[in-house]
Amino acid sequence: MFRNIYSSSATIAIVSTILKASEFARYQAVQALLNGDLVAFPTETVYGLGGNALNENSIARIYKVKARPTNHPLIVHVSSIDKLDKWVSHIPEYALKLAEGFWPGPMTLLLPKNHHVKEIITGGQDCIGIRVPNQSFTNSLLKDFESQGGLGVVAPSANRFGKVSPTCAYDVEEELEKYLDKNDLIIDGGICQVGLESTIIDCRLSNPKILRPGAITKELIETVVGKELIKTEDEVAVRVSGLLKSHYSPKAKIFLHGSPSLGDGFIALNEVETPLGAIRLASPVDTTHYAQILYRALRLADQKQLDKVFVVPPSGDGLSIAIYDRLVRASFK
Ligand code: TXA
Ligand code: MG
Repeated sequence: MFRNIYSSSATIAIVSTILKASEFARYQAVQALLNGDLVAFPTETVYGLGGNALNENSIARIYKVKARPTNHPLIVHVSSIDKLDKWVSHIPEYALKLAEGFWPGPMTLLLPKNHHVKEIITGGQDCIGIRVPNQSFTNSLLKDFESQGGLGVVAPSANRFGKVSPTCAYDVEEELEKYLDKNDLIIDGGICQVGLESTIIDCRLSNPKILRPGAITKELIETVVGKELIKTEDEVAVRVSGLLKSHYSPKAKIFLHGSPSLGDGFIALNEVETPLGAIRLASPVDTTHYAQILYRALRLADQKQLDKVFVVPPSGDGLSIAIYDRLVRASFK
């Protein structure tokens, strides 16, 4: 199957070479979204598989391409905080502080939804997940789309359900090429800066609560909000597929304890030596770099057809919490 991939030199190639995003690509992407086609686009976290949030056919196709159950809701992406009122019925004061403090950025807020928001977006729940991404191509794309009547772009991570999120356009292609149609687009905006999905914060309660850890950490949130977070033990019923015990899984089995044998994969900070006979998949220099390249390294394990990968997570708070969260889910079988 052929797909259109647009380059910065404004050539249209019906080949699987992926080149940089461009103004021309942006124009085409807006048209595709308006036509109901899907556009895989870069964000600072991971690549998203986007569709017009007002078009039920597009939304249905996203679920189909991802093979995702329809009761797992989608995040709406908008260009700025000003667009919130189209989607949300009420914004608690602390949520406004979060939005002003961290958008555009790697944070999704769960807020009470506006009555017109379609059930297919929220999976029948009373709240909507919304975020303003921080990636120059995509922010301009969202602005252009909104200037032509669009209200927002729904986009889950551009991977099959339960699998590792893609952090570059090649990985989107590898993951989804069999499932996309000829009018869908993949935009190459390079490697995602953060490399892990956005922090999801439930804003329906008196205080914020992290549902999925990410680059906007507990410490950052508490500083901006001036309130303590609700601990995760105090569960409220909300369906977040990224919270499933098994998620972000490569084919290889992930081990967070024990030592690799000959031919097993190994991921650790650069300062940790490779055990004898193990295949080094990544040597990040610090925690930020670790988050950025982790998913690529997990995919590399599958490309090398490794059965087992031993991972030494970085220690400490902040982003290490999000890395550990993803690794625990990736290791759960
Ligand atoms: O960084 C990100 O958040 C990326 C980029 C593309 O923006 N998107 C992403 O989407 O990770 P997805 O669908 O792969 O993960 C979003 C998670 C899912 O677990 C979904 O169930 C949850 O957010 N979610 C979205 N809307 C929700 C809602 N209304 N209520 C509860 N959970 C929601
Ligand atoms: Mg996902």
